[in-house]
Amino acid sequence: MAKQTGLAALDQIKQMRAAKIAAAPATPLTTQQLPMNQLAQALHPESQYLRIVKVIEHFDNARSYVLEPDTTRGTQHLAYFRAGQYLSVRLQIEQSYVTRAYAIRSAPALALKDQYVLTIKLVPNGFVTPYIFKNWQVGTQIETSAPAGELYVQPLRDQSTIVGLAGGSGITPFYALAQAIVDGTESVDLTLLYGSRTHDQILLDTEFDQLVQQSDRIKVVHVLSDEQVPGYESGFITADLIRKYAPTTPYSIFVCGPEGMYQFIDQEVLKLKLPAGRVRHELSGNGGAPDQLPGYPQTAKGKVFQMTVLLQDKTRTIPARSDESVLVAMERAGIVAPSLCRSGDCGICRSRLVTGEVFAPIVKDGRRKADQDYGYIHTCVTYPTSDLTVEVPIHDLADQFG
Ligand SMILES: Cc1cc2nc3c(=O)[nH]c(=O)nc-3n(C[C@H](O)[C@H](O)[C@H](O)COP(=O)(O)OP(=O)(O)OC[C@H]3O[C@@H](n4cnc5c(N)ncnc54)[C@H](O)[C@@H]3O)c2cc1C
Ligand code: FES
Repeated sequence: MAKQTGLAALDQIKQMRAAKIAAAPATPLTTQQLPMNQLAQALHPESQYLRIVKVIEHFDNARSYVLEPDTTRGTQHLAYFRAGQYLSVRLQIEQSYVTRAYAIRSAPALALKDQYVLTIKLVPNGFVTPYIFKNWQVGTQIETSAPAGELYVQPLRDQSTIVGLAGGSGITPFYALAQAIVDGTESVDLTLLYGSRTHDQILLDTEFDQLVQQSDRIKVVHVLSDEQVPGYESGFITADLIRKYAPTTPYSIFVCGPEGMYQFIDQEVLKLKLPAGRVRHELSGNGGAPDQLPGYPQTAKGKVFQMTVLLQDKTRTIPARSDESVLVAMERAGIVAPSLCRSGDCGICRSRLVTGEVFAPIVKDGRRKADQDYGYIHTCVTYPTSDLTVEVPIHDLADQFG
């Protein structure tokens, strides 16, 4: 009896297979048509074309942008992501092709309904944010990378209790995580210590209150540096403050905020003497002056060098300031150079230093040892200290900026 059932099942499989073969096209599928490749393309598209459908004002220096697929430019659906990941936004501003990373602050579940939300803080002396605040409005078409970044909960590595330490616009990945906790996408507890200057400057304040009311797995402690308000902590996020609010169960710390905050918080977190691997950092971008970093050759300060860029079959010689990265020099000159994290971490900007001297600060240098030995640099965190020649690898760059 069992044998007959087994034979019948085998027969059924043969019939299904024959039907599939009969239905298949006579000519072989191209690589783009293979279902596995189509799935990979949906999860990790080279580019996403989006359209702004709503702008939300928080204060005069912070706005949220609600984005949907721009079907007119070929994006039908948004790529899924893990709470904590970011998009690299690609823009052309005057002659410069630049990117900036922005954490997706909406829930991953919303991406399945084809929406992302970015919340962007204006940096008054910045390059990209003044442009965004002036130009982005409902209907603006924008281009981004697929979701990227590692600041998400990885159960094999992280504890199931997260203590988040956020400052300023560094709140955005935690807001995505809190929503994912409420809707059941993520199964962790979150205690968030969030530093703002004043009560009026707390970003996503009421939005967080609503999430806290919906889940006892989320706790938020506001820390105000420039103001004393009853019911709020004042000062900075210190080791004592973390001890005061952190749960008694083992926890992982996730940190996200401006670069200056990392320098202070790193010292405080060290005092907690947590086991190795318990502290995760968001990338810090690459702001600040390189001459303030340890190891900078002061003789290069204030100079402008000549940089020859070998880019596919083209050669360009451009000026390269010693206080700006090799990547920014190329962007200023209108070269479409690859970048994603702009923090020395992802390796997308990896290029070959053919001749010349550079400064690659240890604190930002995410290169593998072999790359260091064989003359490869991450252009986003490498500064010229002499005339130099750089070979930029072939990417489908023309496509990346539409
Ligand atoms: C992983 C990650 C997530 C982030 N998430 C958020 C977020 O959710 N919300 C948020 O508000 N911020 C976020 N940021 C910060 C964000 O990426 C930007 O750093 C920030 O918006 C400031 O950008 P800006 O261009 O205005 O300022 P800056 O980057 O400070 O602009 C000044 C720099 O632009 C360059 N520049 C000047 N002129 C030119 C030119 N003509 N051509 C080319 N370059 C030039 C110079 O290098 C100068 O130093 C995140 C950063 C990272 C790394
Ligand atoms: S852009 Fe990621 S390492 Fe340079």
